[in-house]
Amino acid sequence: MAGVILGVESTAHTLSLGFVGEDGTLFSSESALFKPEEGGIHPREAADHHSIKAPELISRLLSREDFNQDDVVAVSFSQGPGLGPCLRIGASVARSLSSVWDVPLIGVNHCVAHIEIGRNQTGCEDPVLLYASGGNTQVIARAGDKYRVIGETLDIGIGNMLDKFARQHDIPFPGGPVIEKLSSDWKNRGLDTNENLINLPYGVHGTDLAFSGLLTSAISHSRELPLDQVCYSLQEHSFSSCIEVAERAMAHTGKRELLLGGGVACNARLREMSRIMCEERGGEAFWPEKQYCIDNGTMIAELGRKELQSGRITKLSDSAIDPSMRTDSSIITWN
Ligand code: ATP
Ligand code: FE2
Repeated sequence: MAGVILGVESTAHTLSLGFVGEDGTLFSSESALFKPEEGGIHPREAADHHSIKAPELISRLLSREDFNQDDVVAVSFSQGPGLGPCLRIGASVARSLSSVWDVPLIGVNHCVAHIEIGRNQTGCEDPVLLYASGGNTQVIARAGDKYRVIGETLDIGIGNMLDKFARQHDIPFPGGPVIEKLSSDWKNRGLDTNENLINLPYGVHGTDLAFSGLLTSAISHSRELPLDQVCYSLQEHSFSSCIEVAERAMAHTGKRELLLGGGVACNARLREMSRIMCEERGGEAFWPEKQYCIDNGTMIAELGRKELQSGRITKLSDSAIDPSMRTDSSIITWN
């Protein structure tokens, strides 16, 4: 088989190793998810989890029939943005593997990787990306040699907001999928959903978003109203605000494709809203498979492949992590 690029992801909860063929063929990742026993993520606890799990993930990868270490031509890793202690573990794993296998090391931008895996998997060309994850909520579009942030959350990420709401009701991390289930339970009750939509704060500010007021209000309503009704209303408000900003970005840039990425892009209602909005304006909505929406090593490998093919590799002396790396700090040299 031709060469493969290995990617290491470790920005937050997930440690993941994945790989792609030099021709862009995607392979599933080997992943381990850190779930805090209580409360939110503690960066050092997550990093400990990643360092304990790393040897197991490497063994799992090496024992796969579709993977041969002799085929690896480069190792890429998430250099940022993310939680420092977590990023450091992934970077160490990548540095070790690149040195043992004597192949180039490539530090990549995690946010850009969400875009490139989506473009690879869906075949869309020049989309507006709605990047909706735990830590990030951004609407992004390419202009020239950069992916520019047109709008973003001014407080917390949408996934983080869903997880915090869930935690108030003793729903363990990740809360998003459970909120999705409760929302569809409410819809399936057959009541008039419009009439029963709770009026919550709606945080759109031009092309920016905000979710903490919505979270506070939803928590307070859930003391009196059925949880599934509040979950439904929470999803409707937060997803509508993202779709509104995405539509504005499409109108301003003239782009006709919308691509979803990040863990919240697993949500069927967000996908449906995206499809409807795009159809109404003669565009098209795309989303990758769930395994490539959530954080995964394959997307890091895919961006590593594009960087490698553009001739960019990372010297060991330049391989320090950058927890606050911005989406628009990376130069995009490929089409
Ligand atoms: P990033 O580093 O890009 O911010 P992340 O660490 O938040 O990513 P992801 O795997 O991209 O990790 O996303 C996890 C988030 O996605 C969690 O907040 C989780 O609740 C949310 N999520 C997962 N599935 C769903 C779903 N079906 N509906 C809504 N949210 C979901
Ligand atoms: Fe992510």
